[in-house]
Amino acid sequence: MRLYVTGGTGLVGSNVIRLARQRGIEVIASQYGPAPEWTVDYPLDPLDLADHDAIRRSMQKYKPDAVIHAAAILDQIVMDTRREFCWSLMVDGARVLAEACREVGARLVFVSSDWVFDGRAEIVDETSPPNPVNFYGVMKVASERELGAMDGLNYGVGRLAGIYGLNYAAPSLLRKDNGLGFDFSVYVIHRLAAGLPAAVWTGPKVNDEAHPTLASDCADMLLRLAQHDSNGIFHCFGSECINRIDLAHQIAAAFDADPALIMPTRTDQAVLDEMRHIGIPYRTRASTERTAAALGRRAFNVGEGLRAFRQEWDAFNS
Ligand SMILES: NC(=O)c1ccc[n+]([C@@H]2O[C@H](COP(=O)([O-])OP(=O)(O)OC[C@H]3O[C@@H](n4cnc5c(N)ncnc54)[C@H](OP(=O)(O)O)[C@@H]3O)[C@@H](O)[C@H]2O)c1
Repeated sequence: MRLYVTGGTGLVGSNVIRLARQRGIEVIASQYGPAPEWTVDYPLDPLDLADHDAIRRSMQKYKPDAVIHAAAILDQIVMDTRREFCWSLMVDGARVLAEACREVGARLVFVSSDWVFDGRAEIVDETSPPNPVNFYGVMKVASERELGAMDGLNYGVGRLAGIYGLNYAAPSLLRKDNGLGFDFSVYVIHRLAAGLPAAVWTGPKVNDEAHPTLASDCADMLLRLAQHDSNGIFHCFGSECINRIDLAHQIAAAFDADPALIMPTRTDQAVLDEMRHIGIPYRTRASTERTAAALGRRAFNVGEGLRAFRQEWDAFNS
């Protein structure tokens, strides 16, 4: 299979590329930001999703069998304040990519999010109606709907949730500082490893309960989806829902760290101020059964994911 990955220097994309290369899959990756920090043994294709003609040219040039579209803007403030720009990139860009995939006969895996939901339902599954509470979620739903309405498109929507892990392509981009868009697990590990308290926000504007998913595990689910043949929505989430405090304690246990350093803390006021107009889903509990049946496995539960992460962490840092 020839696989084209967008967002290859990102957390998700780098894990997709790494696993695909381990499996002998031919990879081409788009490049928008700084060059990857790892040794690149696959073609890099300079691409800005804002340049729709470039998207079409790339698909015509490489004619992949499948595309995993992991590129996105994740900064909630940018999304909220630069809506037209972000829509052009995220929604129009995905539609143009889908049309280009259809032209060359490629299957498209569009990476979406559990934030298509409002976080208020008792439990949601792949068929539940979305109800996003922020512009990010709105753009994901808009893209999902556009792809679903396109005749003749071979596609899967792979929704992800609470991704944590190593960004193998750009370790310097690990989001380890507490703040907007940080990687909660990496933050907790760094703090505890340094013997410092880890502040776990429990107040407003917090996605308190979710399905944390190890990036390398979600990469496996996305590759399965790329090789699958049915269209629709798939929940490539870790198979267990957990709140942040319990997750922090499980991280401490998995990394042999002192749980007494975990400090439930009210959300930082600066973050509350910045996010005052932006909704955050509070609790997203989801069923992953249909996806597990379709893709032949369920993703890791919390303990399995953290044990695998510990192994990756130790191997990477040794
Ligand atoms: N992280 C999570 O917890 C989470 C949860 C649910 C869903 N998701 C979804 O998973 C996907 C990947 O997220 P991530 O955490 O891996 O994000 P990330 O680390 O920020 O990576 C996003 C990538 O998007 C690319 N990009 C940004 N602007 C671009 C542009 N104008 N043109 C082309 N590429 C551009 C960049 O690619 P380059 O490498 O080319 O610079 C960047 O590496 C996204 O669709 C996100 O919505 C993530």
